[in-house]
This record gives sequence, structure tokens and C-alpha cells, in this order.
Amino acid sequence: MKTVPSPAVPPDPSPFLSLIESKRDGRELSPESIAGFVRDFTSGAIPDYQMSAMLMAIYFAGMTPAETRALTLAMRDSGEVLTFPDDPRPIVDKHSTGGVGDKVSLPLAPLLAALDFRVPMISGRGLGITGGTLDKLESIPGFTTQLDPARLVEQVQRIGVAMAGQTDTMIPADKKLYALRDVTGTVPSIPLITASILSKKLAESLNALVMDVKFGAAAFMPAEPEARRLADSIASLAEACGVRTAVLISDMNTPLGRSAGNWLEIQESMECLENKGPEDLRQLVVECAAQLLILTSGARDLADARTRAIDCLASGKPRRKWNELLAAQGADLDAFQRRLRLDHTAAHLVEVPATRDGMVSRCDARVIGEVVRDLGGGRLTKESIIDPAVGIDRLAKPGDVVRPGDILCRIHAATEAGALAAQARVAEAFEVSDLTSDG
Ligand code: URA
Repeated sequence: MKTVPSPAVPPDPSPFLSLIESKRDGRELSPESIAGFVRDFTSGAIPDYQMSAMLMAIYFAGMTPAETRALTLAMRDSGEVLTFPDDPRPIVDKHSTGGVGDKVSLPLAPLLAALDFRVPMISGRGLGITGGTLDKLESIPGFTTQLDPARLVEQVQRIGVAMAGQTDTMIPADKKLYALRDVTGTVPSIPLITASILSKKLAESLNALVMDVKFGAAAFMPAEPEARRLADSIASLAEACGVRTAVLISDMNTPLGRSAGNWLEIQESMECLENKGPEDLRQLVVECAAQLLILTSGARDLADARTRAIDCLASGKPRRKWNELLAAQGADLDAFQRRLRLDHTAAHLVEVPATRDGMVSRCDARVIGEVVRDLGGGRLTKESIIDPAVGIDRLAKPGDVVRPGDILCRIHAATEAGALAAQARVAEAFEVSDLTSDG
């Protein structure tokens, strides 16, 4: 006898519909109902069209702190949560809301491991003009960013640090919700951003977190007050969930450091680990480490914490830790060292010269980010293929004095046409002003 499969029972949309209506009308949802709809959406029982309506209702009506907490915990619990053996070394991480040239995680992770923290750093990819740590790491020959939770925990226990991407088994609710927010205009919502970021951080079982919330032309939050509201939302919820949290608010009108582009940022990060390189990058790396030392009682006060971070950077230990990290995650160290010594790895290199005397008064991070993205260093869509070699380096920054012919930046491109197009556009990023009489 032939068996006929019974037709799938369509999900009953009515209970979730009443929750959407409640949120639309500004009522508070209970923690149980939030946990229920996160579970049902993750399993596929709630269709995207209904969740889109809920996200838009949250976008307009907002969420109370209790609702945001329930959403965050439900998202964390949608997948595997890392568990670490008891150990005196605190478990810490940093998160940045992202920007152009923001490579802080690369030198910071080995610095923290050298300071005797455990650092299970789970990072993301770049989208649009903001770069992503995973894309930068993948420009290293052989380096894998795919570690399953057991391997990640083992590596952190053994060498103090792992840098990897989110696995399919961790925080699946965030993956699905973020993809939907991206196409429904619901990304810039403080409760939704808070839940998205913190669900991932809580799944790392952290003791302490430092958040770098950026504002400015190339940041997620253009204005400082909005950045502060997001920072407060994240910090108060993280503390309520038992994670000691410090927040830095930093400017993203100008790129961080003097290079933007995946491999170029690895090169600049190595300079930082060798106690050289741009001062703004070094200061932010030291500040993040110092905040974590304070939060975990590893320092008397901020001055002492900064001194410890600076001394550690100067000791060379974080640079050696970086090599341990590369070896643990499959990188070819000889090929890496050889590539580090190259002046450029892209096929075409052009310079952008200054045309007048003066002081650089603007180096626009948004324009620089757009040019790097269009050279192939960033993504226009999630499917875009990244070219690790392209980007911009030797950026002149506000305060630099230039003469005609001095370099404002160099462009690394895959094609000559791409290099010339970028050269014309990038000039718009700079403003050179008259020197004052005492300048
Ligand atoms: N980064 C995240 O991980 N989630 C957001 O919602 C925004 C930025």
C-alpha cells in the first residue's frame, strides 16, 4: 500500500498576531511571550512576514528595559552558550559598533591574553563601509575563522585567546533576526541593537566587556547623544546580566589609524603590536585594555591600568601571543611574515598628492570607507566577494602639515581603472587649510 504523506500543518498565526498588535499599540510584552516568539521564530514556526511586522512595531514603540532583557536572554538561549572551566583568569571581550580603519580588536586580543585574560573573541564581517574583523583575519594565509565551540574553549584555555566567527550553533536567533532587520529598515533601533550585540556577548559567558560605541560621519550612530543612549542601554543591561561593562564613546568622523582595507589593517595592527604605528590606534587599544583591568580589579586606578597595558605592549609578549594565535588557527607563519614585508600586495598602487601648503583639517571617514568598499575591500551585499589586498594607506590626518607633492594617501587597487577612479574620488575626503601664523 502506498502511504500518502499528510500535508504539513501550517502554523497558527493568531497568538503571535495578538502580540504584534499589543506592541503596535504600545503595550509591554511579558518575558514569557518574548521568549516564546523568539523560540518559534528560530524554529521556523513564525513566518518572516509576521516577524517583520513585530520588528517594525518594536522600532516605533520601543521596548522597556525588562522587555529588552527578555529579548536578549531569549536570543542568547536560542543556541549554544560557551562554558569554561573554573580558572582565575577573567573572561573578557570588547565590542565596537564599527567604523572605517577600526582594527582595534586585532592588537587588543593578544594584548589581553598577554595580560592574563581569557579572550573568546567572536567577531563579525564587514557590511557597507564598516570593516569586519573576520574579513581582516581571512587575509592571513591559511588562517581559519571557523572554530566550533569546543575547539574555541580549548584554545582559549590553552593560549588565552581565540578569534572566530559565530557558528551555526550559537545565537541562531540573532542570525535570522539580523538578516530580516537588514531588509526591513529596522536595524537602527536601540533595543534591537542592544539585544543583538549583547545576546552574542552573553553567549561567550564573559566576566567583563568593554564597548566602543562610535559616533560620526562613518558610524552607525551619526550623533554623539544617540551613541550615548545606545551605550547606556547596553551597559545597564550587561551589568544587570552580571557582566561588568565599561563604555568608550569614540569619534568616527576620521578613520582610525592610517590605513583602511583588510590586509593593510593587518599590517598596521602588527606595527601596533610592535609598539609602533599610529598614536590614535595605540591609545584606543591601551584604553580598552585599561578599562578591562579596572573592571576585573587587576589595577589600582586608571593610571595604573594604562601603565600596565603600555608596559605589556612594549614587552613584546602580545606580538609573540599573536604568533601563537596564528599557529593555533592554521596560519602559515612564514608566508605571513613574507607578506608583511611587502610594500603592497594589490596590482596597482597610486598616490594622491597634496596640491597646496597647509594643515590637513578633514579626512572624511565616510568617503574613505566608500572608496575602499568600491575598490572591492567591502561589501555592497552579503554575497559580495572581498579583495583582501585593496585599500588606502598612509592617510594624512587632521593636524598633519603638508606641502605640495606630499602624499595625502596611497590607493591599492586591483585594476588601473579602479585606481584612477578612486584617486579622483578620494581627493574629496581631504581638506587642507591655511597654517596659522604660529603653526
Ligand atoms: N551589530 C550587531 O551585532 N547587531 C546590531 O544590531 C547592530 C550592530
